[in-house]
Amino acid sequence: MKHIIVTGGNKGLGLAQTAEFLAQGAHVHVVARSRGDLDQLPQAHLSYHAADLADWDDTGWLDRIQAQAGHIDGLVNNAGVHLKKPVWEVSGDELEGVLDINVKAMFRACGRYVALQRERGGAIVNISSMGGLMALQSAAAYVTAKTAVIGLTRSVAVDAAPLGFRCNAVCPGFIETDMTRAVLAKDPARRARIEGRIPSHRFGTPQNVAKAVAFLISDDATYINGVALPVDDGYAIGF
Ligand SMILES: NC(=O)c1ccc[n+]([C@@H]2O[C@H](COP(=O)([O-])OP(=O)(O)OC[C@H]3O[C@@H](n4cnc5c(N)ncnc54)[C@H](OP(=O)(O)O)[C@@H]3O)[C@@H](O)[C@H]2O)c1
Repeated sequence: MKHIIVTGGNKGLGLAQTAEFLAQGAHVHVVARSRGDLDQLPQAHLSYHAADLADWDDTGWLDRIQAQAGHIDGLVNNAGVHLKKPVWEVSGDELEGVLDINVKAMFRACGRYVALQRERGGAIVNISSMGGLMALQSAAAYVTAKTAVIGLTRSVAVDAAPLGFRCNAVCPGFIETDMTRAVLAKDPARRARIEGRIPSHRFGTPQNVAKAVAFLISDDATYINGVALPVDDGYAIGF
């Protein structure tokens, strides 16, 4: 059985990734600070590991999962936070908060995963955003972080390929989640503006993203390494 880790796999986009890997017959290890919505999913091949990924010194969760499972076939670094502010309003603490989880935690997890799986290889998917491919208004810290994720992904892809690893990024566009639904319900004009700008005029689903993540982790993608795959209906290429 394949063992896959999904950080932040307890809610939002991550929950759909956990569901997709379970449906494909994997054992999924979810790492987050809470169980979130995990009780909605079948439990037989699901493990929850509590961790605050912002803590640079704690990668013990990866070691524990490896010791328990014996091998980790895939690591999805999905956990992330958003900050909706232009650059002049972002404090040092706020910037650090965004970088800690969106970049440093991912950087650290990639390094520890490769070290642990050195004899066996593996596959990594890092969740970036279309904010990694283009600027988004009032999201300077987030865009900075998600752009860094793509650089990290390319570096790991090049360095770890000789050891049998692949590392790719997925860049979701506007995805319908409870959070986006709630935020945009308060601002229907903004929702209409966004929909007007998406080439097919519709938001994506968490499942759209989960399918792309599962493909890049799978053996069907063994010659795909270092890409930043937009799952955005073409939003980032222009309109
Ligand atoms: N939703 C979108 O439209 C969209 C678009 C582009 C990219 N993305 C990216 O997709 C990923 C998931 O986004 P989402 O919308 O599903 O967000 P979400 O619903 O807010 O989920 C964020 C996840 O990250 C976990 N997390 C946050 N801080 C953590 C910490 N310090 N330690 C451990 N876990 C932590 C949360 O779990 P706990 O709170 O339980 O710890 C949660 O599972 C993020 O990287 C986001 O940037 C989302």
